[in-house]
Amino acid sequence: MFRETIAERAPSAVVDADVPDVEGHGALLRVLDLRKTFYSGTQQITPLDGVSFSVARGEMVAIVGPSGTGKSTLLHLLAALDTPTSGEVYFARNLLWALAEKDLAEYRNRSVGFVWQRHHLLPDFTAAENVAMPLLVRGEAVQQALEAADHWLGEVGLRGRARQRASELSGGEQQRVAIARALVNQPALLLADEPTGDLDEGNAEAVFDLMQRLHRSHHLTTILATHNQSLARRAGRLFLLEHGRLVPSGPGAASSDDVPLAARAEADVPGECG
Ligand SMILES: Nc1ncnc2c1ncn2[C@@H]1O[C@H](COP(=O)(O)OP(=O)(O)OP(=O)(O)O)[C@@H](O)[C@H]1O
Ligand SMILES: [Mg+2]
Repeated sequence: MFRETIAERAPSAVVDADVPDVEGHGALLRVLDLRKTFYSGTQQITPLDGVSFSVARGEMVAIVGPSGTGKSTLLHLLAALDTPTSGEVYFARNLLWALAEKDLAEYRNRSVGFVWQRHHLLPDFTAAENVAMPLLVRGEAVQQALEAADHWLGEVGLRGRARQRASELSGGEQQRVAIARALVNQPALLLADEPTGDLDEGNAEAVFDLMQRLHRSHHLTTILATHNQSLARRAGRLFLLEHGRLVPSGPGAASSDDVPLAARAEADVPGECG
């Protein structure tokens, strides 16, 4: 069974012997020459035109870039929500597009947590029911799922609001619920697409602080796209997405303490970007 979560980091049973062992290089995620072209009528758009980078375990990476440059497209590919035109994404030792469909589904559901700009909560369901949803979908007992949801709502500072309907929560609180929902399956990789984009400055700061705290306390590997430069600079590494490529950017790239020293030493990131 394929999975890599916070709780269980055993090597996958689906590893293909021919796939290079990127674990040996310390990278949880390795992206090689990723390209994506969209065809719409006679038009063709190529937002990603040779993206290559690696992310070490425990790293927090921010991706910035003007609107329409392909940040969401890249995150969707990393989450296996879409397929690339060409290129490779390795998660641990697994080449994503070589996985069997059931293993790819397992990757999407259990190895990756995704936070969207809009929370996408079910408004008539309670906070706890929303957070429990991924567990219920995968067949967990209701009681167990709700207990896990309560735990994760506590982690995001909303334990007292568990039985409140999502529609009755503020924007900041709703995004916290969405973060709890993204983590309830205990993924190893957290992807966030403009997680603070719909929030005012104060709430954006608070939600980013929360993500950074959870990133550290749960040993997550986090990649987030954002327009907020000051928040982006607080990530361990910063990339600019431009002309279809990822370019290392900002002084934080080599100085943040977000990257555990061991992971930084092992990661084979220099020279791989862009
Ligand atoms: N399904 C699709 N079909 C056709 N074109 C698409 C599709 N998805 C994205 N695009 C195009 O690809 C480009 C990149 O879009 P994307 O949403 O990834 O940008 P972005 O960097 O996330 O922008 P923003 O900062 O506004 O969220 C845009 O030109 C967009 O119109
Ligand atoms: Mg986007």
